[in-house]
Amino acid sequence: MNFIESLEWRYATKRMNGQPIPTEKLNNILDAILLTPSSYGLTPYNVILVEDPAIKEQLAPHCYNQPQIKESAAILIFAPWKSITAANVDEYMNEIAATRGIPVEALTEFGNMIKGKVTNSSAEDLYNWAAKQAYIALGFGLAAAAIEEVDSTPMEGFNPAGINEVLGLDAKGLNAACMLTLGYRDAANDYLSSAKKVRRDKEKLFIKY
Ligand SMILES: Cc1cc2nc3c(=O)[nH]c(=O)nc-3n(C[C@H](O)[C@H](O)[C@H](O)COP(=O)(O)O)c2cc1C
Repeated sequence: MNFIESLEWRYATKRMNGQPIPTEKLNNILDAILLTPSSYGLTPYNVILVEDPAIKEQLAPHCYNQPQIKESAAILIFAPWKSITAANVDEYMNEIAATRGIPVEALTEFGNMIKGKVTNSSAEDLYNWAAKQAYIALGFGLAAAAIEEVDSTPMEGFNPAGINEVLGLDAKGLNAACMLTLGYRDAANDYLSSAKKVRRDKEKLFIKY
């Protein structure tokens, strides 16, 4: 399948069959998420991988018992940082310096620019900014899963406070923003598996000049 065929093949899978995902495929999906671009490259979020059935069991009631939670092989929870500090920026500058083999002092101006944004933004604006980056990662994960022929469901239908509590995210300074369940479709029990994809007409979506 080419990329477009993979995107046509995928759908938001409501029923999965519990079959595990080969490690290589899961790793490819995680690598695609790792390669997601973010503003300044700061990556102000974490991604939590849940494979443990006992934890899925605890998550389910906070996800309105959507069946794909327990029937999936794995769940990725995209959790933006609840605050971004100058120390986070310094850590990132050190990572760039180490990776590219340059002195960290060469990055002072770049670091100060990011720190300027961080210190001049409200906590709410910073969280929303971090969450937008996390959603890009969700998109990369979705697309990568389709290429790997792994079914998935992007999800916002959950109570973040409950998810945060089960996973101890508050203590880590994180908030669950969105999820991606991964697994294999149970086509016989999922009416959506054969439903035609509904998208707006190209002429309505794209505005050309
Ligand atoms: C951010 C986001 C949140 C979503 N939340 C849920 C959800 O909680 N449960 C669910 O079954 N589908 C959820 N969906 C799936 C959408 O309903 C679905 O992607 C959309 O109807 C298009 O259908 P398709 O993905 O099958 O092409 C969500 C999708 C996105 C992008």
